[in-house]
Amino acid sequence: PWVEAYAPATVSNLGPGFDCLGLAVHGPGDTVRARRRTEPGVVLTKVSGDGGRLPLASDQNTACVAVAAMLERLGLGASHGVELELDKGLPLGSGLGSSGASACAAVVASAAALDLQVGNETMIEAARVAEAVACGSPHPDNVAPAILGGIVLIAAIAPLRVVSLPVPDNLWLAIYTPGCEVATADARAVLPRAVGLGDAVRQSARLGLLVHALHTGDLALLGEAIVDDLVEPARAHLIPGFLDAKVNALEAGALACSISGAGPTSFALAESEHRAKALLEILEESFTHAGVAGRGQVDRV
Ligand code: HSE
Repeated sequence: PWVEAYAPATVSNLGPGFDCLGLAVHGPGDTVRARRRTEPGVVLTKVSGDGGRLPLASDQNTACVAVAAMLERLGLGASHGVELELDKGLPLGSGLGSSGASACAAVVASAAALDLQVGNETMIEAARVAEAVACGSPHPDNVAPAILGGIVLIAAIAPLRVVSLPVPDNLWLAIYTPGCEVATADARAVLPRAVGLGDAVRQSARLGLLVHALHTGDLALLGEAIVDDLVEPARAHLIPGFLDAKVNALEAGALACSISGAGPTSFALAESEHRAKALLEILEESFTHAGVAGRGQVDRV
């Protein structure tokens, strides 16, 4: 029988947490169906919602790569086989962890279809392998929250150490995906290879403040902490309208506004649904004005 799993969109980096912090939202996500096949190997036989753009090839599709990596880790690569079907709910190249969501939904569905007990760490590790295939970097900050939910800090990579952080009750997000694409590989190619000591100190102090703000539920502090002088300035030019959208959102009372993952999706934080709706309109106006109207949502962690 087919087993179906869903994985949510994720907003990663969250300002100072480049490659080590991300959160899962409720909104749209990717759905994968998996069923056991008698021959070993992982195959993807159907994809919908991608406009025909995703590769079906097992070594290129993140869903297949992640499941193959999971089976490999469990020593089952040569004996077990899975067939997958993927419904893309997330736009490609959007900054919402689209490639990671397919990978995560695929490992969850496949583990269930094969009756395997698989730990979260193994699933995250397997999904990271797929991220490397998708964009050249095995960053964990989309796949860890997609598997665990909530707000997740990746405290270490080898061995993997993930920490779930508290989610403040009244935290709302306005999330807007402009009508343009940014390939994660391109958004990583523009990053500085080295950073100065002063910048590193400021960034780590902000990340510390961010964790403190989540533990105390202090949303004003959280907003203060979500500032990124390292990655965001290097990427802003890839997203038409982002800088204006940010100024407008902050003027309208956003706690913070930044790029989601590698962009172009941008997010603003608010302390109420009402404010988040107003911020979404502001993001929409700003990006429409820049000629990249897209679509957005008000969401929660
Ligand atoms: N942390 C990664 C980046 C996320 O910002 O490049 C990519 O989705």
